Amino acid sequence: MRNRLIAANWKMHKTPAESTAFLASLFPLVQNNTSAEIVICPAMTSLAPLADAARGSSIAVGAQTMHWLDSGAYTGETSPTMLTAMGVTHVLIGHSERRQYFNETDTTVNLKLKSALQHGLVPIVCVGEHINERNRDLTEDVLRLQISVALEGIDCEKLGPLVVAYEPVWAIGTGHTATPETAEDAHKIIRAEIRRHAGEEIAAGTRILYGGSVRPENAGSLNGMEDVDGALVGGASLESDSFAQIVALFAEQPA
Ligand code: PGA
Repeated sequence: MRNRLIAANWKMHKTPAESTAFLASLFPLVQNNTSAEIVICPAMTSLAPLADAARGSSIAVGAQTMHWLDSGAYTGETSPTMLTAMGVTHVLIGHSERRQYFNETDTTVNLKLKSALQHGLVPIVCVGEHINERNRDLTEDVLRLQISVALEGIDCEKLGPLVVAYEPVWAIGTGHTATPETAEDAHKIIRAEIRRHAGEEIAAGTRILYGGSVRPENAGSLNGMEDVDGALVGGASLESDSFAQIVALFAEQPA
């Protein structure tokens, strides 16, 4: 049984004060949750205050991106050692907005994944097809390529912490959630590709999250799918009430 993981991706929202206020309002709402892991990925400026405020609790803090090197002349970037020094434990890698607006490629995803694993950060690698790729029946090819380049050259013994988020680009911020069946099909493709690279044990243990317009209204049915192990939540994670509802729905064991 894979432990559920629910991650909030706040993107470029919330000041440090707003971030810690959110956390204070979330604590009582999730105090009965003992099963699902909760990770909040705020903007860089909120990482340190949020990690301080979450210390000792069951809520983890993740970055939305990072550089793969420890230091260097890379203006504007943040390194994995800077993240771990703040108490950050997770990192999103290759989110589609990073790919679309900041030139991230499968190759940089691979470099970042290697670096995250080396630094003890839990990597949440984001993959997903564009609508034109889905319409041309290319979803399987796109997902297999994204996963296979991401995992290239990494020993399977190192891949234990890997988390993958399937985020169809057409579902992000659009309100057009993938149906549970569409998500399940994609998650099965992703798991099969992980199995091909890293073997059965790693594939069976890797959490695959669904992301793209997850809401309290659709979280329960997504959680009912065999290969959906949690969610990466954007818009609906900005309010503690809706995020806590999603956590509660994923914390329930599917029948
Ligand atoms: P959304 O974003 O839930 O607002 O669709 C998800 C994401 O981009 O991770």
